[in-house]
Amino acid sequence: MNNKIIIINGPNLNLLGEREQSQYGSVTFEELKEICAKKSNELGLKLEFFQSNIEGELVNIIQESRKKFDGIIINAAAFTHTSVAIRDALNIFKRPIIELHISNIYKREEFRQKSLLSDIVTGGIFGLGIDGYILAIISMQKLLENEN
Ligand code: DQA
Repeated sequence: MNNKIIIINGPNLNLLGEREQSQYGSVTFEELKEICAKKSNELGLKLEFFQSNIEGELVNIIQESRKKFDGIIINAAAFTHTSVAIRDALNIFKRPIIELHISNIYKREEFRQKSLLSDIVTGGIFGLGIDGYILAIISMQKLLENEN
């Protein structure tokens, strides 16, 4: 049976392609969604792609993922640096989790250099642009394959 994964995107990532292109590049959110769908399809993964600007909606989808998905790839965006609620929800999910950032958060402002998620996730990717999403999908497929 195909493994099911979800890519969860936090606030302002819906404006990719428009916001701070020097940090996040020119690929739009819709284009990113298509790129991720294509790669997941190639690797035999079923993908759901989710975005919300609202912290509680992100917590809800992480909770629901326990029953629906085998792995989570998450770019929690600004909530990475602030949200104990998202950290706690992820901590309840017992399957692989990959934390993802388009930019290198450790080369940016001091407040971005702290992630509340890094020490509870399986692994992370940062600073590789939107290619990070492709790499995260590849890594997730391997993690799930090795679980079985
Ligand atoms: C981000 C980095 C965060 O600091 C920022 O708030 C974002 C995007 C990234 O993908 O590089 O919105 O998670």
